[in-house]
Amino acid sequence: MQIPIIDIKAQYNTIKAELDSAVIKVLSEGVFINGPEVKKLEEEIAKYSGVKHAVALNSGTDALYLSLKVLGIREGDEVIVPAFTFFATAETVSMCGAKPVFCDITPDTYNIDPVKLEKLITHRTKAIIPVHLYGQPAEMDLIMTLAKNNGLNVVEDNAQALGAKYRGKMTGSFGDTGCISFYPTKNLGAAGDGGMVVTNNSELAAKLSILRDHGSVKKYAHSEIGVCSRLDEVQAAILRVKLKYLEGWNEKRRKNAKKLTSLLKGVITPRADEQSSHVYHQYTVRHSHRDQLAEYLKANGIMTGVHYPSPLHKQEVYMKAGYMDVLPEAEKASREVLCLPIHPELSGEQLDYMIAAINNFKG
Ligand SMILES: Cc1ncc(COP(=O)(O)O)c(C=O)c1O
Repeated sequence: MQIPIIDIKAQYNTIKAELDSAVIKVLSEGVFINGPEVKKLEEEIAKYSGVKHAVALNSGTDALYLSLKVLGIREGDEVIVPAFTFFATAETVSMCGAKPVFCDITPDTYNIDPVKLEKLITHRTKAIIPVHLYGQPAEMDLIMTLAKNNGLNVVEDNAQALGAKYRGKMTGSFGDTGCISFYPTKNLGAAGDGGMVVTNNSELAAKLSILRDHGSVKKYAHSEIGVCSRLDEVQAAILRVKLKYLEGWNEKRRKNAKKLTSLLKGVITPRADEQSSHVYHQYTVRHSHRDQLAEYLKANGIMTGVHYPSPLHKQEVYMKAGYMDVLPEAEKASREVLCLPIHPELSGEQLDYMIAAINNFKG
């Protein structure tokens, strides 16, 4: 049996007719940029996230970068980020000329450790970027309290967790901004790149709309230096179709995760905070012989992923910049984590096969 880590083609086939007609509609109407689909998608995601505004962009990376820009993050500032996340979380801080300060994670949630975070706050700290890694909400109560007490902005990296809730409230709706990625493999994935910022702050939303379109409020009138980061109509139309299915798909991911967690042996299964709802962008287990386990599963037709094989403070670019942090939990996680297939299109037989294979691993 072959089990891919993700099955984008299978997902397409389940909603092919709807997607095809949404794309053809955009093609036949001939409006590809700044059209009605993007506007409607922004309204729908703002409503879904429980916030006032949403600004569609070209990527999740731009969502982070432009959030930091509109919050005024610049050279001389420090921004605290988890060391165990995708590179863009820190990269966008560096793109603003500011310094990413790496924080260790809590080993059972893989999210930023709020106790260690507090110790990293200095007079230069301007913001925190909590990441809801793998689809599991970060400790937002503690993080928001720390931010409030220290006058810090919060930019939520919600790239992996659209639809997750922390204590009943949508992730992305706690901070000054919430940053979504529509990268094709995400739980809500476009057929290309895409991203969005959600926010309750009307001023930030207005600034973001200007920055994403060359710093212009109206055509050929530029009040600022911006970027070209518009989501296109074809992507928005695709995302609008898929958004209707997101809750169901996330529920299927949770169901798959529940089965894996109850039946897997010999690996450390992920802990899901009972008061939050995890959307399992990744289902991540730990094993001290992770690479052997991955090889063994591959030989048995089961594809896996390692997110992430190196923590950010150990990335060449930050080592060259003189970072010498020792962050034991992030480093250990990088050596031990293995992400298993969890996508909603997995069949019961595939899940059973995967469970049997893992339980037979003699590592
Ligand atoms: C945690 C995290 N942050 C940021 C990003 C960047 O998103 P994008 O690839 O849409 O630029 C991603 C996704 O790749 C991510 O997983």
